[in-house]
Amino acid sequence: MKRTSGTDEQKRQAGKKAASYVCSGDTVGLGTGSTAAMAVRELGKRVTNGLTIQAVPTSYATADLAQDADIPLCGLSAIEHIDIAIDGADQVTESCDALKGGGAAHTTEKIVASRASEFIIIVDPSKVVSTLSGPVPLAVLPSAVTHVSDVVTRLGGQATLREAAHKDGPVVTDQGNHVIDVSFEKISSPDALGADLSTIPGVVEHGLFIDMADGVFVGRSDGVRQLQPSPWLPLPVVDTHILVLRRGSYRCASLRVLTGVKKSDDVILQIPRLDSFSIVILCSSRCVFEQLIYFSIECIVEIRCDVLVC
Ligand code: 5RP
Repeated sequence: MKRTSGTDEQKRQAGKKAASYVCSGDTVGLGTGSTAAMAVRELGKRVTNGLTIQAVPTSYATADLAQDADIPLCGLSAIEHIDIAIDGADQVTESCDALKGGGAAHTTEKIVASRASEFIIIVDPSKVVSTLSGPVPLAVLPSAVTHVSDVVTRLGGQATLREAAHKDGPVVTDQGNHVIDVSFEKISSPDALGADLSTIPGVVEHGLFIDMADGVFVGRSDGVRQLQPSPWLPLPVVDTHILVLRRGSYRCASLRVLTGVKKSDDVILQIPRLDSFSIVILCSSRCVFEQLIYFSIECIVEIRCDVLVC
């Protein structure tokens, strides 16, 4: 169920920006849809120019596209870790919660995003909403369609089995499931709704991506607007250019999203990796440092971030 009035140029801007965050050696999750396709094409150009990556596609459609772009592919079950996943969305809020599944690929998309150190959503401006409003796509075992429809109706939803566009009958996903789109009058708590939907027997995956994205790039004809999750509150500015982040549940790669700093930039001496005990970041300038310390309070608590005065 796609609804977009975005232009190709807006999507391309978002895709290009996300593709620029990929570094040689990365394993990259490739999302599905027309916006994700822009990132795939941009990555393909970088691969032609020498970027060395392997990619995990989230659908047959994306695998075909990546193959055409000469991007080396590997299977989801064959890799231990994804460095960065890039994907589109049907709706996204300013705090980076998203609704996906318009292309019926959200089950694999969610696995890939969950396995990635860094998950970037790319959209055109028509996808940005103040609150997620649905309909929420559910991938459902074919034999469970009636049961799931009954349960979501009891939850206050209106269930519609998604019909295929170029085939008689329902959509069949890459994994052989059907899709039920569930409309709710209002989604007041997407988190709670997602939890409720997950417990329904027969539901394989729902399209709510809550608290998953590390950043959203909103493509515009003249550039990209960047959204970041959770309210960003500044730490008190101290007189130092050194920041030490201890290992924790912090997804270190999202540093790149927050600051625009890339691994290849010389401001990062030691590359942040989840398996390293700590990372030390020497900032080349006060300005970069001040960007770095704009972590959310949640994040600071999780990573036990120490700021050293030098
Ligand atoms: C596929 C998805 C897509 O990312 C979503 O539908 C957005 O697609 P597009 O960029 O073509 O609007 O979730 O399941």
